[in-house]
Amino acid sequence: MEVEREGNVINITCENAPLRLYILGPRLVRVRLAPFGFSVDHSWAVVKEDWPETKFSIEEDEETLEIHTCELKVMVRKKPCRIAFYDRNGRLINSDYEPLGMGWNVNCVKCWKRMPRDEHYYGFGEKALPLDRRRRRMEMWNTDAYGYRTGTDPLYVSVPFFIAIRKGIAYGIFFDNTYRSIFDMGSSSEDYYSFEAEGGELNYYFIYGPSIKDVIDRYTELTGRPFLPPLWALGHQQCRYSYYPAENVLELAKRYREKDIPCDVIYLDIDYMDSYKIFTWSNVRFPDPKKLTDELGRMGFKLVTIIDPGVKAESGYKPFIEGVKEGYFCRRPNGEIFFGRLWPGTCAFPDFAREDVRDWWASLHEILFREGVSGIWNDMNEPALLGEQRTIERDVIHIEDGKEVTHAKIHNVYALLEAMGTFKAFRKFRKNMRHFILSRSGYAGIQRYAAVWTGDNTSNWEHLWLQIPMLLGMGLSGMPFVGADVGGFIGSPTPELLVRWYQLAAFIPLCRNHTSRGTFDQEPWVYGEYYESIIRRYLKLRYRLLPYLYTLFKEASEKGYPIMRPLLFEYQDDPNTYTIDDEFLIGENLLIAPVLKEGCDKRLVYLPKGTWVDYWTHKVYKGPTYVSIEAPLDKMPIFVKNGSIIPMQPEMNYVGERDPDPLTLDVYLLSGEASFTLYEDDGVTLDYVKGIYYEREFRCRRTEDVIELEASETRGKYVPSRKSLVFKVNLVSSKPKGVLLNNKILKAVSSLGDLKEGWHYDPNRNILHVAVPEEKKGFLVRIKLH
Ligand code: GLC
Repeated sequence: MEVEREGNVINITCENAPLRLYILGPRLVRVRLAPFGFSVDHSWAVVKEDWPETKFSIEEDEETLEIHTCELKVMVRKKPCRIAFYDRNGRLINSDYEPLGMGWNVNCVKCWKRMPRDEHYYGFGEKALPLDRRRRRMEMWNTDAYGYRTGTDPLYVSVPFFIAIRKGIAYGIFFDNTYRSIFDMGSSSEDYYSFEAEGGELNYYFIYGPSIKDVIDRYTELTGRPFLPPLWALGHQQCRYSYYPAENVLELAKRYREKDIPCDVIYLDIDYMDSYKIFTWSNVRFPDPKKLTDELGRMGFKLVTIIDPGVKAESGYKPFIEGVKEGYFCRRPNGEIFFGRLWPGTCAFPDFAREDVRDWWASLHEILFREGVSGIWNDMNEPALLGEQRTIERDVIHIEDGKEVTHAKIHNVYALLEAMGTFKAFRKFRKNMRHFILSRSGYAGIQRYAAVWTGDNTSNWEHLWLQIPMLLGMGLSGMPFVGADVGGFIGSPTPELLVRWYQLAAFIPLCRNHTSRGTFDQEPWVYGEYYESIIRRYLKLRYRLLPYLYTLFKEASEKGYPIMRPLLFEYQDDPNTYTIDDEFLIGENLLIAPVLKEGCDKRLVYLPKGTWVDYWTHKVYKGPTYVSIEAPLDKMPIFVKNGSIIPMQPEMNYVGERDPDPLTLDVYLLSGEASFTLYEDDGVTLDYVKGIYYEREFRCRRTEDVIELEASETRGKYVPSRKSLVFKVNLVSSKPKGVLLNNKILKAVSSLGDLKEGWHYDPNRNILHVAVPEEKKGFLVRIKLH
């Protein structure tokens, strides 16, 4: 074996194949094994190119090569070639499996890893499986999985990345290979797991945590941080297949406002087009789209339109004529354009692997954006074809980096490439405005451009549960902006199911109601006032929580953390959390325990270590514990972690309906400390990148006698329009003796009303409100309890 070092790259000539190790950070190593020689190093997923120099040393003897960074030891055994990773204390984290290790044949590269009995596996993108994916075999091949159920595989999105946890220690592996691949996480053995692909190199990144947070942070540093959506996209969204004509869309919008049910977005499904031709409007159903978007805009709605990738093969249709003339479509090996069937009939498919095609695709969006459309919904982009074909044939040719490659290589990134083109359209036509793309399919990196929903789910109780492990798994795969069709796409929910679904969805990052053609309507009001009123209450709560959610989205855009988190994300030392997928956290502070069974009016909830407060009753529990909680239909159990400050805004029916004044800081602290750093900006433009944002840290300390509330000076140049901040301090059992603001006495007031400055105590609910004017300067409030 020969070893050569070049900067952070170590070239090793193994017995039968060249191996290349890249030391990208103290805990990040890339492994490349190319049995048939290294090809051009290109990835659609990985965006980080310049890595700071990492110090490492190499030791070599007859049998092994050892590479030491300050955090890791990578041991390469020479004959046969095997790799193992140890932490700096010499504890084995992960190793190739004996005797298999790494292998290949003409059609496949494969890697086998030792699988400890107590290791658990998470992520793998979108999988209709329980949260822990140990003992599962999973395929990565983007597929239109209409009517999928638990266990159906593959689905629409492929992310060949997972996180392993064992005894509280986490590592991740990102197998960056776009060919059809298989992850067998112990479905055929209790001793090893494997990953393999039908082409390309054995190319993977080993990411050592030891915290899950570090793994995701590194993974999204590699594959790109999630985009920060406009604030309105966090609102409730309404879709159906399909709302038309324009009058019906306006009717729907008016109905929402009359019903006083929050909603920000309405979608148009394929029937808005002329004969399903993309980038057209039906002039019968939508004769004046601009008038429609203007009227919707006046009512506080944004319009999002669907786009499928198939371009109808029709002689008089401009996108087709242009695409043919410029040679933009995918071709068969014999040079003929590849045709497949989609909604409008026979279609050609743009070769999104080419930058010029993506530019062209972007330019086609003018017809939507000039009419005032705010977001684009990319569907059928696996790509999905109708009929026997199902997708583009594997030998169809794309041009990648100027070279011909087959669809077998591009298939899994087709949607990612389309999203790159769609993103360009936003930059071209909406300049400084933030983009919103919703995509059905994707690959690692899709988080840079799009939110993802879980496709054609079904209106039943199984799917109500299934969306939790699905979305949690997607969150752990670097995609924080995810959701499932609320109420279910196929079929119609019972009133009870719709209510339970909304209770849960009110906390899910993407909250979109959608249903298929031919089903009953499933807007929040369809089952009458009783059910409607419960849904209204939960959606109003979502809108009150938008400042909290938005801050989490900002954090996601910086570190890749999921917004909807499995308990194990925050409690990785607690093995009880490793398989919990019927409850979840929103950020660190809110624990959501939805009711997932028909007819149930109580449920068992696991509360991890710490003290938890029932959001509805303020009853206090000490974790870790399992508690049985009453949950009649109008109640979904929610718990707040002791030590939380949750920012909330007033109720509203759409983002921007009124000034979010006051900002309430909902404080849950029995003793000790709590803090929260709030992030805000204008919510729509890219100005925040130039420093026009607002950031402020709130702190709270509580001892037996005193509560202190502190706000830092604000950071950033965005000035919110509100006049006051209100601390709502919960769990205060007696009227305070006095309250000081910056050492000056603050007045008690007799009613809450429009409290701008002063305090008020409610002895029945044990809540103390303290109002302070919103100013740039930091301040300190001291509350004497006794
Ligand atoms: C696909 C989508 C669905 C959409 C339908 C019609 O089934 O998944 O959301 O409504 O196509 O466009």
